[in-house]
Amino acid sequence: MKTVGSYWPYAPTLFDYIRRAMPQNAPQSLSKQDVYAVSAYILYLNGLLPAGATLDAKSLSAIEMPNRNMFVGDSRPDVTNPACITDC
Ligand code: HEM
Repeated sequence: MKTVGSYWPYAPTLFDYIRRAMPQNAPQSLSKQDVYAVSAYILYLNGLLPAGATLDAKSLSAIEMPNRNMFVGDSRPDVTNPACITDC
């Protein structure tokens, strides 16, 4: 099951995602401190932080996410397909 803890490779992405997009009905309404706090809570729910842990930029980027090394570079070459309408 893809969760923040089982799937996301970098913890700062969680901060950035919440800061930009959440809450979905009021994006960017949270203060920086709120985003650190709710990020810490989500990482705690995923068993990656103890209860009540606090975060700042340094401690957030120091978190080693479990799925960190499971992302592999896409070795397929970039292809450019010319647009085609007829007789493709
Ligand atoms: C402080 C409050 C909130 C926080 C911290 C938060 C955090 C998050 C996070 C971390 C994700 C990504 C989950 C994942 O991919 O595994 C997410 C996804 C999502 N959240 Fe929130 N959320 C908040 C409030 C809300 C509210 C109020 C709504 C709806 C009104 C909402 C709607 C969604 C939706 C629809 C997604 C899926 C987006 C997608 O997959 O493209 N969230 N949220």
